[in-house]
Amino acid sequence: MSDTLVKRAAKSEALIGERPSLFLTGYEPVKGAPKFVRSAFGSRIVDVDGNEFVDLIMGYGSVILGHAHPAVQEKVYASISNGANPTLLSEVHVELAEKIQSLVPNAEKVTFLKTGSDAVSAAVRLARAITRRKYVLQWGMHGWHDWCCIESPGVLQDTKKYTIGFKYGDLDNLQNHFQCHPTDIACVVMMPYCEELPGLDYLEKIRGICTEFGALLIFDEVRSGFRSALGGAQQYFNVNADLVAFSKAMANGFPISALAGREIYMSHVLDLHLTITFYRDPIAMSAALETIKELERGETLRKLVDIGSSLRSHVGCVAEQCSIPVRLTGHEATPSIKFGFLDDDKNKRATRAFCSSMIGEGVLVHPLSHWFLSGSITNQDLSKVKRAISISMERVSSALQY
Ligand SMILES: Cc1ncc(COP(=O)(O)O)c(C=O)c1O
Repeated sequence: MSDTLVKRAAKSEALIGERPSLFLTGYEPVKGAPKFVRSAFGSRIVDVDGNEFVDLIMGYGSVILGHAHPAVQEKVYASISNGANPTLLSEVHVELAEKIQSLVPNAEKVTFLKTGSDAVSAAVRLARAITRRKYVLQWGMHGWHDWCCIESPGVLQDTKKYTIGFKYGDLDNLQNHFQCHPTDIACVVMMPYCEELPGLDYLEKIRGICTEFGALLIFDEVRSGFRSALGGAQQYFNVNADLVAFSKAMANGFPISALAGREIYMSHVLDLHLTITFYRDPIAMSAALETIKELERGETLRKLVDIGSSLRSHVGCVAEQCSIPVRLTGHEATPSIKFGFLDDDKNKRATRAFCSSMIGEGVLVHPLSHWFLSGSITNQDLSKVKRAISISMERVSSALQY
């Protein structure tokens, strides 16, 4: 079934035709990787050929409670019965804005968009409009829009030259960029963390540098938001950003993003021509409100930390048994497997072999990304993942003849 769909897609869908699998960047096929989904519920997905997997990709991090979470689905079905985009604003819009305002530090005002790219790009445009400066200092992944995809053909040279990447964890590097353009940097836009957590005071120091040079600090919390803490990385690390972009986990798989921040900045949003047809979409808003309420009432975030810690200890034990330099790093909710061979090529081969083996053992992981844990993982799932890790490490060990 899957092969037939791939052949059909190759004739009509430009991206699938070239990359018929999970992997959006740096694609190389991983053995056994499923392509088309038949069903998804809780922590598990079944592909069209009937293979079942514990999903540790979870809609690329957009599904935090579990696939088709009953409470969220119920609100969504109720919203759908009133039409998909019923022209006017809905009450849930206001409730969602109030909810985010009450949970997220410095979210004095909030507005809604559809994708993570939308929200981060809006924050950058807002920072440029307010400061009347051109340069953007950035770290991390922020989506597909021109200002951040400076490697892509088709992006104008004039656009590329105003986006400068800085080195995560290296304050001198950031300071140097500010020294080169002391009055021209509109904002620092960054993921608060990705695969490794920041060192002590790092984010706080960036906050200080931005204030000193009159640049806005934007946190791209598309991944960390509603996952590291209910108030996101600002709360988790006790540091204040000026603007914050959310998406992914906030609506358990439904498409919505949010831009939030201090009123002195957000009051300029109206000037930005930030108008999108699906701004009022009550379905995704209903999903978001219920997801956030569920996160608020439940144990989900604590559970993610517990599972992440348990997996980390397990990887530690297996590494010792197999004599392999490997560890599970990063935030517990988004753990990342890191091999520590001296040869970087060997690390890549090991990651790839590990990932292939995990998929073969029925655990869906991505070779180029950390994992996304979900609140739906059961004890049985956890045992299955641990078993897959043990088996896969042994395979990596013998494949590399370490
Ligand atoms: C940190 C971060 N920012 C922005 C984006 C872009 O979000 P979207 O794909 O919804 O446009 C992503 C997507 O993975 C992301 O991880």
